[in-house]
Amino acid sequence: MKSWEELYDRNYSPYSGKKEACLVRGESGIIYPGVRVENVSFPLTIHAVQAALFMCISQGDQPESAFIPEQAYCNDTMPFWKKSCNLAFKELSQPSECEGIWFLPKQMSIEPDFKKLEEISKKALVPESSFPVAAVITSDIGMIDGVNIEVTDWQKGLCAERVAIASGISLGTRLFKKIYIIAPKSDYVSPCGACRQVLSEHMADGKAIFMENPSESHTLIVRELLPYHFSAHQLRNK
Ligand code: THU
Repeated sequence: MKSWEELYDRNYSPYSGKKEACLVRGESGIIYPGVRVENVSFPLTIHAVQAALFMCISQGDQPESAFIPEQAYCNDTMPFWKKSCNLAFKELSQPSECEGIWFLPKQMSIEPDFKKLEEISKKALVPESSFPVAAVITSDIGMIDGVNIEVTDWQKGLCAERVAIASGISLGTRLFKKIYIIAPKSDYVSPCGACRQVLSEHMADGKAIFMENPSESHTLIVRELLPYHFSAHQLRNK
């Protein structure tokens, strides 16, 4: 990626127009991008720093350094991430100055199965709940996975579904087809209200597949998960 503009273009900021960009490099040397992912329910917005950090952690990597554009718009959550991850946010004039290998989504020829999701769920960071969840979204750019990540401030953690959505958007797609979800410690996982709201905004026509075990699953159309959900249409009619 040559310019920050390319990353700014991936932002999903239809409500504020604010653009954020962040790169997190893991100990592996892999670079994970992050952008701002807004929601019509404003408090559900995911910041670029959180998106990049969580993509890194979701891949089983350890954040080693973080980069932002020079004179970037900084949201109020930055000090929290600086402190909790013990990271300095280095300013770069262009992302190409960041040395490392850019993370790319996995290409797949077959749909992910229960075993694959179970394997992914092992990367969940769940010091508070000990309840790992894994989500895999199929998209035009490949398979995007996410796990739930808990941090000291509970409100700043995210469910696996939202980590996967934020990762996909940060990686440059919004064409989400299916989302597979498992919680190995439960029969099946029914996405929380916040995830239903976020999924409704990005893949209302997509399929949600809750996998109970290797041979049982429930499939719903995402829009069926949250009837009468709050939408941009209502906001604009205010
Ligand atoms: N969790 C998910 O990741 N997805 C869901 O659909 C339900 C809940 C996570 C969030 C938190 O880390 C833990 O489960 C307990 O709430």
